[in-house]
Amino acid sequence: MRILSTTTICLILSSCLAGSSAVPTLERRQTGCDSALWNRVKGAIMEQFGSRPCSPLGRAAIRLYFHDAGTYDTKDDTGGPNGSVMRFDSEANQPQNNHLRDVILALRTVYDRFSGQVSRADIINLAGLLGTQSCPGGASIPFFIGRKDSTTPDDASRLPGDTEPMDNIISKFQRQGLTNKQLAALIGAHTTGKRFSSPPSEPVNGNAGLAFDSTPEVWDLNYYNETLQQPTSPPLGQTRIQVDVAISRDPRTKNEFARYVTDFDGWTKDFTEAMVVMGKFGRANANLIKCDGVVPAAIPLPGGNPTPGNNGLGNGNGGGNGNGNGNGNGKGIGGTGGVALALPASGTF
Ligand SMILES: *[C@@H]1O[C@H](CO)[C@@H](O)[C@H](O)[C@H]1NC(C)=O
Ligand SMILES: *[C@@H]1O[C@H](CO)[C@@H](O)[C@H](O)[C@H]1NC(C)=O
Repeated sequence: MRILSTTTICLILSSCLAGSSAVPTLERRQTGCDSALWNRVKGAIMEQFGSRPCSPLGRAAIRLYFHDAGTYDTKDDTGGPNGSVMRFDSEANQPQNNHLRDVILALRTVYDRFSGQVSRADIINLAGLLGTQSCPGGASIPFFIGRKDSTTPDDASRLPGDTEPMDNIISKFQRQGLTNKQLAALIGAHTTGKRFSSPPSEPVNGNAGLAFDSTPEVWDLNYYNETLQQPTSPPLGQTRIQVDVAISRDPRTKNEFARYVTDFDGWTKDFTEAMVVMGKFGRANANLIKCDGVVPAAIPLPGGNPTPGNNGLGNGNGGGNGNGNGNGNGKGIGGTGGVALALPASGTF
């Protein structure tokens, strides 16, 4: 009887478990938001991203956010945002995670600095939110902490691929518990996306580095509009991927996709909600702790955020090595980071 009650107390007090070495310290849950600590973590992440707004590593962190969380399966409560993609090379080396090496290595240095104080899963979450917010127009998404790191790798083949049939894409989102509307909202992250390499059906790397819209370093609506307007033969400096065009045309997603072309606030709201939902996947994450004052306020688009009648065209700024044209629609060709739900490609982690 006494032994039983001691065990129960140990299960409740995480420090007791850690002290008994049943659970290594680094996997311990957060019990409150230490905003001073998290602001130091933010500083370390931003140091890695570099001073350029919407930097390649910042944008890659958005993709990493999807790739850590997107393995979730509602049916058996496996996968999800548990840091496994950062912890286990075997998962990072799966083809779905190609080109995430740089951002994983960068965030591992952050983890090492704060080891024992924060989990990898929470670092990935914060990095994805900071990556989004660092792009002009990108939402300031609420940050929650308390995720535990996984002790085993997740299966990256659960992630949607860019050449999969639409039925697979839909069912892979449903498996995570996400709706078709949330799919249409989340795919808009391709507003700052660039292609890493070409699918096997295309000339080797013929499209590597090309963007999915005319303003890849700005979080605007041009991705939605231009995917619809120019589904094939996009302008110089851009490319289209099969999954984007499919989502823009499929009866299950096309209405939302078209609505977002002129509804910046609606998209921001839907995207924000879907990101929070993804960050809370898993029954173990039912009671995460809100951590305010870490993710800065959104940076308005140059010229102001689009409202009906002002779609933001002419306000775009490619940044970096972009070539501004008469409309200010820079084409930021040549960056190496990028956002994608999953882009199978050659090369290893
Ligand atoms: C993370 O990984 C563990 C396995 O180590 C798994 O049991 C758990 O369900 C995963 N997901 C979350 C959200 O913690
Ligand atoms: C969509 O793009 C076309 C050019 O392809 C442009 O003429 C039009 O104004 C854009 N519409 C919106 C709402 O951005």
